Amino acid sequence: MMETPLPELEAILLVGGQGTRLRPLTLGTPKPLLPTAGVPFLAHQLARARASGVRRIVFATSYRAEMFCEAFGDGSAFGLSLEYMTEETPLGTGGAIRNAAEALSSGPDAPVLVLNGDILSGHDIREQVDMHVAREAAVTLHLTEVEDPSRFGCVPTDDDGRVTAFLEKTPNPVTNRINAGCYVFTRSVIDSIPADEVVSVERETFPSLIEGGALVLGYADASYWLDVGTPAAFVQGSRDLVLGRLVSPALPGPTGDFLALPGAMISPEAKVGGGSVIGARAAVESGAQVSGSVLGDDCVIQSGAVVVDSVVGIGARVDSGAVLREVVVGDRAVVGPGNELLAGSRIWPGIVLPECAIRFSSDA
Ligand code: GDD
Ligand code: MG
Repeated sequence: MMETPLPELEAILLVGGQGTRLRPLTLGTPKPLLPTAGVPFLAHQLARARASGVRRIVFATSYRAEMFCEAFGDGSAFGLSLEYMTEETPLGTGGAIRNAAEALSSGPDAPVLVLNGDILSGHDIREQVDMHVAREAAVTLHLTEVEDPSRFGCVPTDDDGRVTAFLEKTPNPVTNRINAGCYVFTRSVIDSIPADEVVSVERETFPSLIEGGALVLGYADASYWLDVGTPAAFVQGSRDLVLGRLVSPALPGPTGDFLALPGAMISPEAKVGGGSVIGARAAVESGAQVSGSVLGDDCVIQSGAVVVDSVVGIGARVDSGAVLREVVVGDRAVVGPGNELLAGSRIWPGIVLPECAIRFSSDA
């Protein structure tokens, strides 16, 4: 049977945020470009968008804007056509969408996909677009359920899927259903956002559309979803891609217990697993244990060191017997022998921790 070709779709990708919660990883690299399961994070999103019929994407950039074009160019390597629109000063999510829309070719009635640049999602984008078109909505929001909705946009709906309110980061969420950061806008609705002004879609555009009686729909589903905005979530996203919990056409190797990039040297006496990535030319010495972690290119994990659920930056070193759990080690930093670093510790790039400088004692 011949498959019906998917109608071409244009998208806007929001990638202008500073990624402050991911410092020091984001000091030199924007969050959407951090190496995740062996490739820049966005490569996974771009591949999934393409698979659902998207052919042209406008990047809404601000922080370190030039790095996106360096990474993805005109998009031909990804089977996409890419454009870049930069805000001199960040215009907020709404202002960024309005500004990027200048580069769209879609007419006023066409559906336009808008994606937050830090989301891994297994939902069916096509089904979301089809629902939007069939019900002639102004905007259709992808919704997912999380345990703590107060960190997100809380989105109650009625029985028909109509969004009844949009409550961004409210301390008193009325439902666990949240904005999952993937929207379908009817193009003319984007054009109604004021130009060259700082506007938040979450705090201004959505609430005022709902207030004004426009049809804002929720597309609720329960497939894989993750916002990679914190170190713990970032590590989890990479791990889930390597383990195959979320299928990505951009994964540079087979799914499995770990992913070793070209030139990685893993001692047969080391224990590596839990969806870890071992960066190009990185070394994991005998007796070292690495689990659920992202190791940057050229880093070294010396014998007997333990690295669990952590990020180790490019060219960094973790010396013998050091123990790291849920830690971020910046590029070229050195964790001297015998240090014990626990959840939430962050070592800035280039810092050298002397031998046994930090120890953990449970009987304090
Ligand atoms: N171009 C541009 N300009 N992009 C921006 C700007 C800006 O001024 N501000 C934020 N962005 C981009 C970020 O780069 C990111 O991709 C996206 O917009 C969302 O920003 P975050 O900083 O990640 O927001 P959040 O995670 O706190 O909340 C948002 O996402 C949640 C889902 O993960 C909101 O949309 C919530 O409602 C939502 O639940
Ligand atoms: Mg986010």
